[in-house]
Amino acid sequence: MTLIFAHRGYSHLYPENTMKAFIEAERVGADGLELDVQLTKDGEIVVIHDEKVDRTTNGKGFIKDFTFKDLRKLDASYNKKTFLHKEPIPALNEVLEWMTTNQVICNIELKNGVIPYKGLEEKVIALIQSYGLTERVILSSFNHYSLVYCYRLAPEIETAPLFSEGLYMPWVYAQSIGAKSMHPKYTVAPNELIRASLDYGISVRPYTVNKEKDMQRLFTAECSALITDDPAKALRIRK
Ligand code: G3P
Ligand code: CA
Repeated sequence: MTLIFAHRGYSHLYPENTMKAFIEAERVGADGLELDVQLTKDGEIVVIHDEKVDRTTNGKGFIKDFTFKDLRKLDASYNKKTFLHKEPIPALNEVLEWMTTNQVICNIELKNGVIPYKGLEEKVIALIQSYGLTERVILSSFNHYSLVYCYRLAPEIETAPLFSEGLYMPWVYAQSIGAKSMHPKYTVAPNELIRASLDYGISVRPYTVNKEKDMQRLFTAECSALITDDPAKALRIRK
């Protein structure tokens, strides 16, 4: 069965990358979550997509220049005008703590392509291990060097390179860096690529799939999971 991962949580209805979006995704029946992590000035792993807080919160500036205490004062629901409550930027440990109360899978995207956060891989892996969640976490990144490093640090945690462009036999590449899966943009994941990858033993979870016809295609292609902003819609279509 193709699993359904909620992209930045249930971000179609709730502020992206907030506990509210994760809790609601799990509540409607998503099999997994996708979220993004960065590091604060004082080394806290926080869940937010951009390197700056400007787009999603009422603050301004780079996450790397905020202490966690100051970052927590911001409202992460600021750009979700249909949502009227304030939501803080979560620390990754809050998400992992909450995961111990359910069965949801979590795809943690390491946002280390623009800012090379020193020690991000070690910190994220240590936290996952401390919660005993190595079997329920997938680490992904556009920075494939970072995934090679993760694999060296903790080969028991699944890694998945992200691809936004077509590649020649990406399943061979994925295997060569120790990855058990890959996360391509759905527009560069035709059915033949999905089939070939699955036959090779590499799981495929395309992102970010929000249209019914694209969901239908990927369910029919039996891809491992699809990553969507609207898990409720995907669940209706998967039935
Ligand atoms: O993990 C897939 C997807 O989240 C990658 O793109 O920009 O939404 O983080 P982005
Ligand atoms: Ca992401």
